[in-house]
Amino acid sequence: MHGLFISFEGGEGVGKSTQIARLADRLRGHGHEVIVTLEPGGTPLGTELRRLVLNPDGHVTPRAEALLYAADRAHHVDTVIEPALAAGKVVITDRYADSSLAYQGVGRALDPQQMRELCEFAVGGRWPEVTILLDVDPIVGLRRARGDGAGDRIEAEGLEFHKAVRAAFLDLAGQDPDRFVVVDASGSLDEVAQRVRVAVDRHLESLPGATR
Ligand SMILES: Nc1ncnc2c1ncn2[C@@H]1O[C@H](COP(=O)(O)OP(=O)(O)OP(=O)(O)O)[C@@H](O)[C@H]1O
Ligand SMILES: [Mg+2]
Repeated sequence: MHGLFISFEGGEGVGKSTQIARLADRLRGHGHEVIVTLEPGGTPLGTELRRLVLNPDGHVTPRAEALLYAADRAHHVDTVIEPALAAGKVVITDRYADSSLAYQGVGRALDPQQMRELCEFAVGGRWPEVTILLDVDPIVGLRRARGDGAGDRIEAEGLEFHKAVRAAFLDLAGQDPDRFVVVDASGSLDEVAQRVRVAVDRHLESLPGATR
């Protein structure tokens, strides 16, 4: 028995958490056992690592940061994701290895090939069956994330960073079209949810037991 592994990726405020909650509700309504989890911080160890890596007062060098994310991910895969998949559950994670690759691709602080090897080591061969990349203009995402009008006040440098993150995610999707589904995340919650539904449902056919 093997479940279904789904990751959601995309920049700040694109709607990952919102769409994951909707998808999980819908799948549970159809009788699937669903685990919703996140990176960084999907385990007790991960919560500690998240606190260290996202601490605005602490200084973490780029290689150390990459290793902290990798440690979080490895422990997450071993203690949460693999056992749930082995039990036939649907696992939905809010960010996974592609976030490390995309954000690092923007920072350019580390060698991309080494980062990919580190990610491979961390995931232990476990890549999602489907990765939903929610894609929207960062102005829209940041406005959503920070509340009405805040997007207008984002400094140019900040916006350039978020545009580069978006481009890095789209680049990753282009490199792995069998795994990625790029979902247009503009439009209403319902419209985006419908696009997610189309992307996910064809993967449910292989799951035993539940109705779609
Ligand atoms: N399609 C949409 N239209 C309008 N508002 C939306 C849409 N999707 C999400 N939102 C709103 O935008 C805000 C950010 O959404 P959400 O928290 O799901 O994004 P996220 O990708 O998880 O962000 P983060 O990267 O910060 O965790 C929330 O207030 C949410 O209700
Ligand atoms: Mg979120």
